[in-house]
Order: sequence, then structure tokens, then C-alpha cells
Amino acid sequence: MRVAMIGTGYVGLVSGACFADFGHTVTCVDKDAGKIAELKAGGIPIYEPGLEQLVAANVREGRLCFATDAAQAVREADAVFIAVGTPSRRGDGYADLSYVYAAAEEVAAQVEGFTVVVTKSTVPVGTGDEIEAIFKRVRPDADVAVVSNPEFLREGAAIEDFKRPDRVVVGVSDDRARDVMRELYRPLYLNETPMLFTSRRTSELIKYAANAFLALKITYINEMADLCEAVGADVQQVARGIGLDGRIGGKFLHAGPGYGGSCFPKDTIALVRTARDAGTPVELVETTVKVNDERKRAMARKVVKALGGQVKGKTVGLLGLTFKPNTDDMRDAPSLAIIPSLQDKGATVQAFDPVGMDEARALLTGVDFKDDPYAAAAGADALVIVTEWDQFRALDLDRIKLLMRQPVLVDLRNIYKPDDMAARGFAYSSVGRPAG
Ligand SMILES: NC(=O)c1ccc[n+]([C@@H]2O[C@H](COP(=O)([O-])OP(=O)(O)OC[C@H]3O[C@@H](n4cnc5c(N)ncnc54)[C@H](O)[C@@H]3O)[C@@H](O)[C@H]2O)c1
Repeated sequence: MRVAMIGTGYVGLVSGACFADFGHTVTCVDKDAGKIAELKAGGIPIYEPGLEQLVAANVREGRLCFATDAAQAVREADAVFIAVGTPSRRGDGYADLSYVYAAAEEVAAQVEGFTVVVTKSTVPVGTGDEIEAIFKRVRPDADVAVVSNPEFLREGAAIEDFKRPDRVVVGVSDDRARDVMRELYRPLYLNETPMLFTSRRTSELIKYAANAFLALKITYINEMADLCEAVGADVQQVARGIGLDGRIGGKFLHAGPGYGGSCFPKDTIALVRTARDAGTPVELVETTVKVNDERKRAMARKVVKALGGQVKGKTVGLLGLTFKPNTDDMRDAPSLAIIPSLQDKGATVQAFDPVGMDEARALLTGVDFKDDPYAAAAGADALVIVTEWDQFRALDLDRIKLLMRQPVLVDLRNIYKPDDMAARGFAYSSVGRPAG
């Protein structure tokens, strides 16, 4: 199969490279000329484990190439994927579909022969109908089928998720398009990946329903963590105690500073908008959004409390800036709320992240970026773990303690044990667990 991938970001690049690895011939297209130039020169514009080798191997085999202009790739394609961004629209939280519609117009102008147009971007219910209308308007003669195929990969584990997904969801009504989608994902039949064929609208909604459910699950355990702190219980044991119940499941039950990232915040708000417009508000999701927003500020207050009630004139060292480990993605990262909140209260912040600091520099002001975790701890009145990068799990704690002005450690990811930390002489606080 020949594939054109419109949009070469986290999803487009990973999907394009994986489809090429399945044996298809893929052109990844992006408007960002710098990104395409970097890829053509053998570089990778994002941090994603294993991606550099996967891209290099498929480029070498002649199955993957890059372009700024979609025309040729679209003309030759059996399937054109739209994988452009759908950020929150400023002001009202609706998904901003301008990139999707612009891409659809560009594709419509070029298609030749029967072509499956696949929306991989996360888009509200009914977007496929709009894309179909664009094709009818721009190219009434074109033979296209518009399909929904939402992506469920996680940054940091994106290749594994794409190649071994829990399921593939395809919203399609055209039989020829269904055959093309089956052929594209054929290698997954080997590991018996369930392939769920639905209507296009159902497929579009599945993606939002999944993300909102996961956001809700995280928020639920975060509220349980607050309750644990108030009543002297341990949220990790509560999570294990409920997670072993097969009806609940143990994943997404890690208490922390609140969800962030490129998907949950925008997708939950977009779902709220869709549901309100449909006259059936999703009040659980609305509450999840509110509780999660509040939580990030509460995390700054937790640091203030650990420092005896005020941080004015104090130095806070911060470990981890990205919204989760193994990505350089800073979109809606909890650090973006926690740091300004501490600065507003008069603290000086020094921080370290293994890969996110270039991104972070553009988004944060007044932060002293350090070269390693020890430099971020040096001279600090408190050290806060915000993102659980592996390298923060095995810190030389005696060295950290010597470097700090006072040994106050706030662990927002519960990666250390309260008893151990107390024995080492730290004033240690974490999320939803009694002090050691
Ligand atoms: N990032 C994730 O983990 C993830 C997971 C599942 C689904 N999604 C969804 O996938 C979509 C893409 O997300 P992302 O994180 O990859 O976004 P991204 O911002 O990393 O990438 C989007 C890319 O599209 C390019 N682009 C925009 N308009 C274009 C056009 N007309 N022609 C060519 N290129 C164009 C941009 O330059 C950018 O490089 C979103 O809808 C998102 O919700 C993301």
C-alpha cells in the first residue's frame, strides 16, 4: 500500500514509520520545513525511544521519505492519513479543526483514483461528515471514502503501542475502504489484535470516551490520595487493593500532581463541549476537568506547606518538567502550573529535566535551568520530584542531602519510600501516603 501521512508530529511520524516498517511505502508530509529538513538529514525532531532507529532503517530500505509538499504523495496514495494537531481553541475549549480542514482541502485538490482519506487526528463527532463535504465541494469528481481511525498510542511507548495496540478502531461504511484498512493493518493480525469496525461517528466518539475515562480514573485516585492524607491511609495500597479487582484494573491508578500532556486536557474539554451542544452534558467529565485544574495549584501549596508555610526568598529545586517521562512534550505539563505558582509566592526555582529543557525554556520565565539533578538540588530549601524519569529513581540521596540547604523532599510521584526517606534524615512528603 502507498500511504501519505499529512502532519509529521508525534502521531504522524510514529504512525508513518510503523506503517513503513509493516512494509508499506510511506511519505510523511509536514508544512514545517525545518522539521522535514531535519528528518531528511537523518535527525528526529521529537524525543521518542526507538524512533530514530526505526526511521533510519525504513528510510534506508526506501519505504519512508519526507516532503513539505503533499501533492505527489497524495496523488500516488491508496490511503491519505490526516494526523495534524487539534488543539483546544483559545477561549472556548472546542477542538480547533482549522488544521484538519486545511489539510482536507489540500488533499482534495490532489487526489487521483480511489483514495481512502483517514482521520487519525482526534476529532469531535461529525468531523468526518465535514471532511466529506469539503471533498464534495472541492472535488465533486473525486472517488474517496472518508474513514475515522483514531490513534491510542502513548508518547514514550509510542512504537510499542502502535505495533501492539490493545485494539484498532476503524469507523467506515465503504467496503473498498474497509479492505484497504484491513490491508494496512494486516501485520497486526499475527498477534491477533482486535479490529473494531464501527460507524464513523461511533469511532470518533470512542477516542474521546476512552481519554475522558482514563482522565477520570486518574482524577479519582488523586481524590482518594487527598482523602488518604486526611484520614491516615496509604493510597498506593488502596490503588492496589482496588486495582487487583479485574472489573477496575490496576492501570492509571497512580496518584500524582494531576494529568497533563497533549491529549487529556484538550480532549476532556472538547468532549464537554460536544456533550453540552448535544444537550446531554457529561457532568462526571466536567467535574474531572475542574478537579484536575485545581490540583496543580494544590501541588504548589503542598510544597509551601513542606517549607513551613512560606516560600518567599527560598529556593526550590525541581526535577522533571515534561508531562511524563520518556518524552520531550511539555504540552499542559503540571510543571507549567506548579512553577509559576511557586514563583508568584516568592520562591526562586531551579530545575532539571533529561530532555525537556529546550522546550521548557520557551514556556517558562525566571527558571534557572541546571545540567543535572544534583545541580538542581544544590543550595535548595526543598527538592520537588514532578516527573518520574528513571534517573530520578536512583539518586544518590546522601549526596543530595549534603548539597541541599535543608533536606526537604516533596515527591509528587511517590517514587521513594516514606520509611527509607525518614531513616535517611529527609523531611519527606509524598502524595496520599503517611509520613515515614
Ligand atoms: N501526541 C499523542 O500522544 C497523541 C496520541 C493520540 C492521538 N493524538 C492526536 O493526534 C493528532 C496529532 O497530534 P500530535 O501530538 O502528533 O501533534 P503535533 O503538533 O506533534 O503534530 C502535528 C503536525 O502537523 C503539521 N501540520 C499542520 N497542518 C498541516 C498541513 N496542512 N499539512 C502538513 N502538515 C501539517 C504541523 O506542522 C505538526 O508538525 C491530534 O489530534 C492529537 O489529539 C495525539
